[in-house]
Amino acid sequence: MAKKDNLPPRSVQWFGRDDIYGFIYRSWVKNRGVPQDQFDGRPVIGICNTWSELTPCNTHFRVLAEHVRHGVLEAGGFPLEFPVMSLGETLLRPTAMLYRNLASMDVEESIRGNPLDGVVLLGGCDKTTPAPLMGAASVDLPTVFVSGGPMLSGKYRGTDIGSGTNTWSMSEELRAGKITLEEFHEAESCMHRSHGHCMTMGTASTMASMVEALGVGMPGNAAIPAVDARRNVLARMAGRRIVEMVREKLVLSKILTREAFENAIRALAAIGGSTNAVIHLIAIARRVGVELSLDDFDRLGRGVHTLLNLMPSGKYLMEDFYYAGGLPAVLRELGENGLLNKDALTVNGRTIWENNKDAQCWSRDVIHGFKKPFKKDAGIAVLRGNLCPDGAIIKPSAATPKLMKHRGRAVVFENIEDFHRRIDDPKLDIDESCVMVLKNCGPKGYPGMAEVGNMPLPPKLLKKGVTDMVRISDARMSGTAYGTVVLHVAPEAAAGGTLALVQNGDMIELDVARRTLNLLVSEDELTKRKSRWQAPKPPLERGYWKLYFDHVLQANEGADLDFLVGKSGPFVPRDNH
Ligand code: FES
Repeated sequence: MAKKDNLPPRSVQWFGRDDIYGFIYRSWVKNRGVPQDQFDGRPVIGICNTWSELTPCNTHFRVLAEHVRHGVLEAGGFPLEFPVMSLGETLLRPTAMLYRNLASMDVEESIRGNPLDGVVLLGGCDKTTPAPLMGAASVDLPTVFVSGGPMLSGKYRGTDIGSGTNTWSMSEELRAGKITLEEFHEAESCMHRSHGHCMTMGTASTMASMVEALGVGMPGNAAIPAVDARRNVLARMAGRRIVEMVREKLVLSKILTREAFENAIRALAAIGGSTNAVIHLIAIARRVGVELSLDDFDRLGRGVHTLLNLMPSGKYLMEDFYYAGGLPAVLRELGENGLLNKDALTVNGRTIWENNKDAQCWSRDVIHGFKKPFKKDAGIAVLRGNLCPDGAIIKPSAATPKLMKHRGRAVVFENIEDFHRRIDDPKLDIDESCVMVLKNCGPKGYPGMAEVGNMPLPPKLLKKGVTDMVRISDARMSGTAYGTVVLHVAPEAAAGGTLALVQNGDMIELDVARRTLNLLVSEDELTKRKSRWQAPKPPLERGYWKLYFDHVLQANEGADLDFLVGKSGPFVPRDNH
């Protein structure tokens, strides 16, 4: 089935034919007024659009796609826009992550099955970056990613408020009785006041930064606000550039190299980015055949300082980041400190260093330099121990320093419903030295590995002024959240990991400096408990949920479906009639 080298370009195998198939392939496309000369062998560019009103962060993508289209036409290409499944964090239940792999299949098959020579991917809300990239990576055509850009800063009673970050903090204040319901509702209208994705350094902004650091997006991709005209210019330039990339045969796998992923991992540490990027980068890498492990994140991120003073780790927002110089200023800092593979190629045909070596920083309060970093040695720490033999992660820059070495009594919640049922109970046997443990929220358990790892604290402790506690789960955490939260415990409870065996009153020891997380219970006792453990049934016995449950990999492997790892390439399938 693989395309042979002596075959004409992909789109020509549809549009460049004189037989009945050529008639069929061209004639129906002409129905909206496409002239014959568009079928002369010029590069056909797919504009893969994750627009949806069910994904509020991506609702400006029809306009963005038009700018890409203009760029493609200006460069002599033939643009064809197509929709794919969109995944919105805020509305989609039980979690958008459940559908990331499904959307990636949609993207992969839509690209391969159609007469496309190159593709521009549009994404914004969290999963709408990794899903298209995973799908496109498994086809491996020339590809450019255009992010939708962050919203303008939230403004509430004279102060900046950030997506998610202030949602969590104001929700805690409401539960502690420190703000009124009216104030809470007012903030709701002040937080999200323009097109774009979350404007904290949450998962969407992190993944847009990863796109730029990987070299798969144009310089400036990470931070230009969604409503800034320069976002549209970037989309237009991407449209022009993809046509050249097809002519240069610059396919995605030439960009997504091991060196590019190493750059992304270091950039992730420098921006204090979302823990979700760990799972997504591993999943994308495995699609192109680059082996990336959890340990790469710990090893490469160690010694990298967090430079950005952005929520949730700091106080500024993405708009400030853009005005201060954006990701180019961060990449320059990495390069000048020996932390960048400078020769990594990017989609504009230049190396990452050529793109960023002259980048300017306009505010050292927002983008710190390496000599005076915002936070030292942050990165993402990968923990191991009998509680997480295949790894777990914690984001030190979002954690409380004095809790990074902690021993405490486990207070166990068997699932998220159990948590919600008991957390507000004044009689709950818990104090601030306890370790909150949440089970069955991993890939199989939830299903889909929801962002519930940053469990809200018990109101009775909030009222005492407690602001953080050690929390452990097999779940993920929103990139906009914070706290001493251990995530992605693997294997997860629903797969029979040690997490499933933790009981109320067990002692747990966390030591981030030593990268350990242990359940202080004897092996004999754990063996006894394991013999009584029963594997859960699939949450649904049919459809995608069943497919997902049967085939999802654990967090340390990127939580992809086992049969999606790798690529099938851009072969042209058989004629359809
Ligand atoms: Fe879409 Fe945060 S909800 S990026």
